[in-house]
Amino acid sequence: MPLRAPFPKTVFVLTGAGVSAESGLGPFRDRGGMWARFDPMRLATPEAFAADPGTVLDFYNLRRRGAVAAAPNPAHVALAQAEAALAERGGRLFLCTQNVDDLHERAGSRAVVHMHGELLKGRCTACAGTFPCPGDLDVADACPLCSAVGTSRPDVVWFGEMPHHLDAIQAALSAADLFVAIGTSGAVYPAAGYVRLAQARNIPTCELNAEPSDNANAFDEARYGPASETVPAFLATLTS
Ligand code: OAD
Repeated sequence: MPLRAPFPKTVFVLTGAGVSAESGLGPFRDRGGMWARFDPMRLATPEAFAADPGTVLDFYNLRRRGAVAAAPNPAHVALAQAEAALAERGGRLFLCTQNVDDLHERAGSRAVVHMHGELLKGRCTACAGTFPCPGDLDVADACPLCSAVGTSRPDVVWFGEMPHHLDAIQAALSAADLFVAIGTSGAVYPAAGYVRLAQARNIPTCELNAEPSDNANAFDEARYGPASETVPAFLATLTS
């Protein structure tokens, strides 16, 4: 179902690690990617944190430092501009990201739904409160909310945990008239299943990726290449 006027008013965008790749934040499943070099079961599960909190915190401290040092690329910027342009004409761009960096926000996106949480927030396993976390976490830290020691963790979603904001995501998917997936492998659920939900609603679906994703055959349209090029070009067709 190729895109054509009348232009969609409510666009659901799902982004993954590929949108931040050209900002220097390596994806997970590419050759040499994060999960090729590190075992996610030892670094990104509640069990790993319980068994060896120092190693898990160090891993996320390094990732947080990398994210803080990175800058948004033209794909992030184009998404922020499209959000503003659609809002101006009474539409909406719902931006759902699996990324834990803040590059969408720093590019100017106003409403970003982080379904896998945020590196720049911490969470206390004792009081469940969340707090800003611009720097490193340490096993000796006291929770700024309840003062418990050794209970601070990054507010990111680990394997075996429930993604955040699922009700808002479901509502946005139900209202969208275009679904776009950018730089995501289609390997991790529930996000990987969203294209099928869009398909079931008979709305157009488009994949923008470096190469065909695991569920590429579910999309009506695909554009392959670096996100810094495909994303601005594709979004220009929606807003110009
Ligand atoms: P992946 O690393 O699995 O996939 C990244 C996708 O981006 C791949 O399909 C690449 O082909 C594509 N890609 C790479 N560079 C690109 C570029 N410059 N332009 C466009 N596309 C590019 O990352 P995700 O699908 O986001 O979860 O991973 C989903 C989740 O799995 C992550 O949120 C994380 C991970 O394990 C948790 O940590 C819970």
